[in-house]
Amino acid sequence: MKIARVTLSDRATEGVYEDASGPEIERVVQQLFADDIEWHRALLRDERRDIEEALRRFADEVRCPLILTTGGTGPSTRDVTPEATRAVLEKELPGFGELMRMQSYAKVKTAILSRATAGIRGASLIINLPGRPSAIAECLPLIAPAICEAVEHLTGVRPILR
Ligand code: MTE
Repeated sequence: MKIARVTLSDRATEGVYEDASGPEIERVVQQLFADDIEWHRALLRDERRDIEEALRRFADEVRCPLILTTGGTGPSTRDVTPEATRAVLEKELPGFGELMRMQSYAKVKTAILSRATAGIRGASLIINLPGRPSAIAECLPLIAPAICEAVEHLTGVRPILR
């Protein structure tokens, strides 16, 4: 299965710190799913046009059934991941963001600052994850069953949960 993981962070792109969230997506996905995965990776600044372009490319050209973003979902001026995602979606699936906020809120009260969304473009499921590595490990297992269901609807092939 082809999966794209896209890190949105000005500071990681500038080398202020290393991108820990992208590798964390790979670690958690590989722990959850038994499928062989072909990874497609991007690390981008929080620029709406660049994010939209990357999402379109991974969906339309690379044809990844699953595209996971991390970062840029918060309330800061530079956080534009949900806007870029919505701009390329054909159908929004608000339940992913709702569930992640609801479940994360039990642990961290700042979870409601996440504006993460998800949805469908063509045969791709695009999901925004929060930027923190710990948040990725908390959120991905919650949504794994719905990822399997949605990907099967889109591609006819159901990812296998371990
Ligand atoms: N969700 C979990 N599970 N754990 C967290 O630490 N941090 C929150 C929220 N969701 C957090 C979380 C905070 S502080 C913010 S600002 C938002 O995610 C957005 O994060 P992002 O801009 O890095 O995507």
